[in-house]
Amino acid sequence: MKIHVKVPATTANLGPGFDTLGLALNLWNEAEFASSDDNQIVINIKGEGEGRLPTNADNVVIAGVLQIYEHLGKSPGGLQINCLNRIPLGVGLGSSSAAVLVGMLGANALLGKPLSDKEVLKLAIDAEGHPDNIAPALLGGLVASIVHDGQVTSVKLPLLTNSKSIHATVVLPDIEFLTKQSRSVLPKQVDHKHAVNNISGAILVAEALRTGDLELLGIAMKDNLHEPYRLPLIPGAQAAMTAAREAGAAAVALSGAGPGLIAFSSNQSRDISVAMQKVFESNGLSARIFELEMSNKGAQVTSVKS
Ligand code: HSE
Repeated sequence: MKIHVKVPATTANLGPGFDTLGLALNLWNEAEFASSDDNQIVINIKGEGEGRLPTNADNVVIAGVLQIYEHLGKSPGGLQINCLNRIPLGVGLGSSSAAVLVGMLGANALLGKPLSDKEVLKLAIDAEGHPDNIAPALLGGLVASIVHDGQVTSVKLPLLTNSKSIHATVVLPDIEFLTKQSRSVLPKQVDHKHAVNNISGAILVAEALRTGDLELLGIAMKDNLHEPYRLPLIPGAQAAMTAAREAGAAAVALSGAGPGLIAFSSNQSRDISVAMQKVFESNGLSARIFELEMSNKGAQVTSVKS
C-alpha cells in the first residue's frame, strides 16, 4: 500500500489581510509514501529544491512525518518518500507549509488516519507558525484565521464557484528574502487609521473573491501594515505592481512575505506578467512567471494499491 499526498501552493495576506487571509492556488507538491524494510526514512526529491533541500531529519517533510509519529507515541520504522515539488521555495507561495502538511498527512494516512484534519491543522500550525498558509493549503479556497491566547481558529470562506473567472499571475523575482528578514522590518506600532483601512480592506477582499467583483478587489486590496515596509527591499517591486495595474491587473499584492507578487485579472494575460517581469529585469533581477487559478480544493490524500 502506498499513500499519495497532494498539497497546493498558497498566497497569504492578499494585501490587507495581513497574517489573516490565505488562498490556495492550483500549483501542487506531490509525494508518495511507502513503508520499507530498512529502518530509516529515505527521501527522494524531484523538481523545486532538488539537490538543494536536506534529505535528513532537517528536511521539512521528514520533520512533519516525525512529529506525527512522536505525537502518537509511535515509531516510523522504514519509509521511502518520493516528492515531486512544483512550489518554488522561499518566494511567498507557502512551500514550507506545503512540505509540513505533506509529511504530516502522509504519516497520518500510513497510520490509518488516527488524527482528524482539525488535529493535523493544529499540529502543522504549531510546527510551521503560519496559519495563513497552512490553513488554506489543508482546507483549500480562501481561509481566514484568528489567533487568540495561542489558539488558532481557521474558517474557510465562500469563494467564487467558477474560480477560473479570476486569474492569478504570480511573478517571482530572483532574490533571497526570508520570511524572518521580511518580518524584522515591520514596525511595532501602527497608525490607527491604517489599521482601520486594513480591517475594511480585508473584509472587502474576501467579499470580492466570493462574488468575483474585480473592481471591488482593486479598491480593497491595499495594505498599510506590511507592504510599505517590505516592498522597498525588493528592487523594482513597487514599480512592478504599478506596471501590472497599467497592463490590466485589477489588483496586485505581495504574495505572503514576498518577494513574489500576485496580480489578479479577469483573463490570463501575458501583458501583465511580461510587464512585471520587465520591471524586475530592468532592476537587475530575473523573474519567473506562474499563470495560476484559485483552487477551492485543498490537500488530498489517496491510498494506492502497489
Ligand atoms: N503572513 C506572513 C507574513 C506570511 O506576511 O509575514 C505567512 O507566510
